[in-house]
Amino acid sequence: MSFFQKLFGRAAPDNELPATLAVLGADMHSHLLPGLDDGAETLEQSLVLLQQLRDLGYRKLVMTPHIMGDFYRNTPAGIQGALDALRAAAAQAGISGVELACAAEYYMDEGLARKLEENEELLTFGGEQRYVLFETSYINEPFNLQEMMFKMKAAGYRPVMAHPERYTYLYGRFEELIRIREEGVLMQVNLNSLTGYYSAGAKRVAEKLIDAGMVDMVGTDAHNLKHVDSIRAKVLLTEYLPKLLALPLLNSTL
Ligand SMILES: [Fe+2]
Repeated sequence: MSFFQKLFGRAAPDNELPATLAVLGADMHSHLLPGLDDGAETLEQSLVLLQQLRDLGYRKLVMTPHIMGDFYRNTPAGIQGALDALRAAAAQAGISGVELACAAEYYMDEGLARKLEENEELLTFGGEQRYVLFETSYINEPFNLQEMMFKMKAAGYRPVMAHPERYTYLYGRFEELIRIREEGVLMQVNLNSLTGYYSAGAKRVAEKLIDAGMVDMVGTDAHNLKHVDSIRAKVLLTEYLPKLLALPLLNSTL
């Protein structure tokens, strides 16, 4: 009996795929790599999540563990090691048809400032596009937000702001989001924001970004089964998902 069969009690399905999210091709924001942050804790959990995202139609997963101060002191080598382990486990479990890759979700803090200062290579995705996924505090605007975004661009990266709809310091300041994007920062909305999963405010801003055509990428930000269940059971039914998927998103280019 294969590892997959032991885990799921059945053989791996081949082609039971709903097409809705298949148009995206790639997810570029998740916490599926095991044991690195507040996402999957074990390889077994990672495999279940991986299988479920594949069944939602994804063909590539760029997994992005948190790198955040003293909380998540992940390094490129550690992340690569977890990716190698997950690839091996997926192969052993017979899970195919989904490419696995990694980058990181950089928290905008002194650690990131230091890496930029010291020209330390950041983890990127999108090949030569050199996309760097970053997040900030949900509540407090970083005092050096502009400077950090400028430094990322000056170092040859294309910054991607993770879930702009979740930052309460930007609520009621939509013109600030417009300005940030006009300065060359790409915007990545979370699928679960469309249901109000995080908050009513996040849903409102996500919808506004979609209406304004200001979404460049869309991510699952999947940490656990609850997130994936919500995408399957609720996000797929939202009125805004078709509007979101009709935008010229970059996911399929990754
Ligand atoms: Fe995340």
